[in-house]
Amino acid sequence: MSSAKINILFTGATGYIGGSVLARLIDHPDFPTFNIIAIVRSPERAEKLQKLGVGVVVGSHSDEALVEKLARNSDVVIATANADDFEAVTATLRGLKKRFEETKVAPIFIHTSGTGVLTDDAKGLHPTDTIYDDSNPDQIEALAPTQIHRNVDLELVNADKAGYVKTYIVLPSTIYGIARNKLVNLGIANSHSIQIPSLIKASLSRGEAGMVGKGLNIWPNVNIEEVADLYIYLFNAIRAKPDAVGHGREGFYFGESGEHTLYQISKRIAEVFVALGISKSDEPTTFTKEEIDKYFEGSNYLGSNSRCRGIRSRSLGWKPSKTTQDMLDSIRPEVDAFSKE
Ligand SMILES: NC(=O)c1ccc[n+]([C@@H]2O[C@H](COP(=O)([O-])OP(=O)(O)OC[C@H]3O[C@@H](n4cnc5c(N)ncnc54)[C@H](OP(=O)(O)O)[C@@H]3O)[C@@H](O)[C@H]2O)c1
Repeated sequence: MSSAKINILFTGATGYIGGSVLARLIDHPDFPTFNIIAIVRSPERAEKLQKLGVGVVVGSHSDEALVEKLARNSDVVIATANADDFEAVTATLRGLKKRFEETKVAPIFIHTSGTGVLTDDAKGLHPTDTIYDDSNPDQIEALAPTQIHRNVDLELVNADKAGYVKTYIVLPSTIYGIARNKLVNLGIANSHSIQIPSLIKASLSRGEAGMVGKGLNIWPNVNIEEVADLYIYLFNAIRAKPDAVGHGREGFYFGESGEHTLYQISKRIAEVFVALGISKSDEPTTFTKEEIDKYFEGSNYLGSNSRCRGIRSRSLGWKPSKTTQDMLDSIRPEVDAFSKE
C-alpha cells in the first residue's frame, strides 16, 4: 500500500472527533496519496470540504446500500460518526468483504467506540477498583455483550476473526477541549464534545452545578488534539508495520491520559458559575430523578465508573501529555461558550 493511492472512506467528518481526525489527514505529509471519500449529510458542509481536497458523497449512514457500495471501493475505512450504529457497521463490513473477495487483500477498518463499554451502574455513589487494560484481550473479552457499544465492537472482532478485514477499535474516554482546526474554522465540523458540555448545559438550565449521586464515580479523560494524534499514530503504524499492530481481539485502543471523579467536574463548574455570577454556591448538588429524566433521558450514565489504561495505545508511540488539571482548566471556556448561547 506504500506508493499507490489509498482509498479511504471517512465517516463523521463534520463531527467533533471526525473533524479533528480529518484535519490531521488533510495535513498529513502523505495526503497527496490519499483518495478520501467522506459521507456528509449537509450539502453546504460537503461543498466546503470538497474545496480542501476531500471527495464527498452527500448522504447518510442510514443508506445501507450507499455505505456498502462505498466500502467496497475502500482500502481503509475510518468511522468516527456513531459508535452504536450497528446497521452502518454491518453494511460497511459487507462492502469490505466484497473488497477482499475482489482484491484478496484484507482492508482496514478503524472504528470509533468509547470507554462507555466499561461502565457500571454506580449512580455516582461509589468509585471502582476495576481497571481495564487495552493490551489484555482476555479481560476485554470478558465484557458482557450487553454493555454499551459492545454489540458493534463484537461484530468487528468477529469480522476480523473471519479473516476478510483487519479491525481496529479506538475507544476514547471523556474527550475535552474546544476543537480548533481547519474544519471547525470553516464551519464544517462541530467543536464541542459530549459529556462535559451536557453537564454544563444541564447545570446552566437549573441555575447551579449538578452531579449524579455524590459524583464519586471515576472516568478517564483525554484532550481532543491528543485523541486525533492517537488515530494518526494508529493509521501510520498500520501502514508502516501491518503485522506489528494488534487488530481484532487484540485491536482495542483506549484513549486516556488522566482520571477524575465526576464530582471534580461538577465542582469546577460550580466554581466557574460563582465567578461568573451565575450561582452563589460553589458546591454542586445532586440531580433529582426529574432532572435526570429531563436532561439525560433518564440515564445515570454520568454516574457510572469507567476506568482504563491505554497500554496498547501507547505502544504505538502515542504519548499524550495532558493531565486532569488540563481537563479542569478546559471547563471555564466551555461554560463561557454555552452561557452565551
Ligand atoms: N466526544 C466524546 O467524548 C466521545 C468519547 C467516546 C466516544 N464517542 C463516540 O464517538 C462518536 C462521535 O462522537 P463526536 O463527539 O464526534 O460526536 P459529534 O460531534 O456529534 O459527531 C457525530 C458525527 O457523525 C455524523 N453522523 C451521525 N449520524 C450520521 C448519519 N446517519 N449519516 C451521516 N453522518 C452521521 C454527524 O453528522 P452531522 O453533522 O450531519 O450531524 C457528525 O459528523 C459517538 O458515537 C460518540 O458516542 C465520543
